[in-house]
This record gives sequence, C-alpha cells and structure tokens, in this order.
Amino acid sequence: MTILDRRRTQILGQMGIAIWKSRLYPDEGATGEGRPAGNRIELVEEPENIEIVDSGQFANLEEVASAVRGCQRCPLYRERKNAVPGRGNPAADWMFIGEAPGRDEDLQGLPFVGRSGQLLTSMISALGLARDQVFIANAIKCRPPNNRDPAEHEVEQCKPYLKAQIDMVKPRVIVALGRISARLLLDAHEKTPMSELRGAVHRYEKTGIPLIVTYHPAYLLRSPDQKRIAWQDLLLARSQMN
Ligand code: URA
Repeated sequence: MTILDRRRTQILGQMGIAIWKSRLYPDEGATGEGRPAGNRIELVEEPENIEIVDSGQFANLEEVASAVRGCQRCPLYRERKNAVPGRGNPAADWMFIGEAPGRDEDLQGLPFVGRSGQLLTSMISALGLARDQVFIANAIKCRPPNNRDPAEHEVEQCKPYLKAQIDMVKPRVIVALGRISARLLLDAHEKTPMSELRGAVHRYEKTGIPLIVTYHPAYLLRSPDQKRIAWQDLLLARSQMN
C-alpha cells in the first residue's frame, strides 16, 4: 500500500492523477496478515503534533493508560470510539503484543475482545494460562480507519506507550502477534517477511527479554492450517521460561 501525505496528494491532484480511497476490509479486527494485495493508494493524514512522547515520563501502568486514553498525537484519535491501552497482570511473565484495535476493541476499549481475541484466549489457555495472568497490548492504541495498516508516523507516535508498558511489566517473554508488532519491536525493515522473523529467539532491545514472533490470530482464523506452526512458536516461547 502506498501512503500519501497531504502535500503529495495535492501534487498528484495538480497533475490530474486521481486518488483512490482504499477498499473496506472485513471488520473482524486488525488483520494485517494476508490482506488483499494490490496497488491501493490510501490517503493518510499527516501528524498534527510531531513531539514524541517520552516512555520514561510515566510512573505506572495506569498513567500510561490514561495518557493513551487522552492521546491526540496522531489523527487516529478523531475516528476512535475508545483508545485501547492494553490490559492484564502488571507483573505478568508473558506479554502478547498485537497490531491495533479492531472494531470490537474500539467499541469496548479493551484489547482482543473480538473473534481474533477468542482465538488468542484459546492460544493462551493451551499454554496453561488464563488471560488475567498475562498482559495483552497492541503496537498501536487506536483503531486505524477500516483496519488499514498503520502509517509510519502513527507507529512512531504510539511506540513510546508500548515501550513504557514493557519496561514496567518486565515480562519474561514477549510474543509478537503478526508482522506489524514484530517489525516494531525488532526495529525491522517494513518489508521484512514473516518467514524471516518467525522461528527464532530474538531479544527485545537491550533488555535481553526473549521475543518470539508468531502469526496474528486474525491470520490464523483465515488460514487454520498454520495453527500447528503457531503452536510451535508458542512452545518456543514457553521454552524461554525454563
Ligand atoms: N487485532 C489486534 O491486533 N489487536 C486487537 O486488539 C484486536 C485485533
């Protein structure tokens, strides 16, 4: 997908080139994995405020959550019903990081409460854990319109909130769900394929916390034959707890 800012859009307009809005994605949650490819051009607004949040400015998780709920640092706040800071055990050993809220999450202000969330709950149960034992958050805290991929400036503005959450929870293992959160957490190039990210024990920044990448539950709902591979990823994550 090509993201256009306002200036480039104006230039294209002056050149007589039409801008097409993206087609609507099925409203089942943020589903970066395997979205229909194509040469869609989507208009994404420029940031209004380029000052970046400092992840060290928060005293506790509640402060992070309340900053997220009031955040207006990128245009995503205008269309959200609720920001979705994340939820879980503040001293969790496991942290699961998704992409961005979908429709259900936006309505409820809670992460992974739609169909993808049901599958995530099953994945967590299969590990012998309950949802309230782990911490669940997203890379992006507000729903991108029509569940489009988040733009780079949206990711950059939001990144310090997730960093603060990880620094406070100090999990023993992080599971990145899908390519958006994996690339963000590993600072990987936006084109790095999942095949290069999965199947290895990465480390989160300088903390040394093991980080495992697996498929996003929304992708697994569409490609159930990949669940076996995702289970291998979760076992790899569990092996880091020994
Ligand atoms: N998909 C995500 O990545 N996060 C959610 O919270 C819901 C769906």
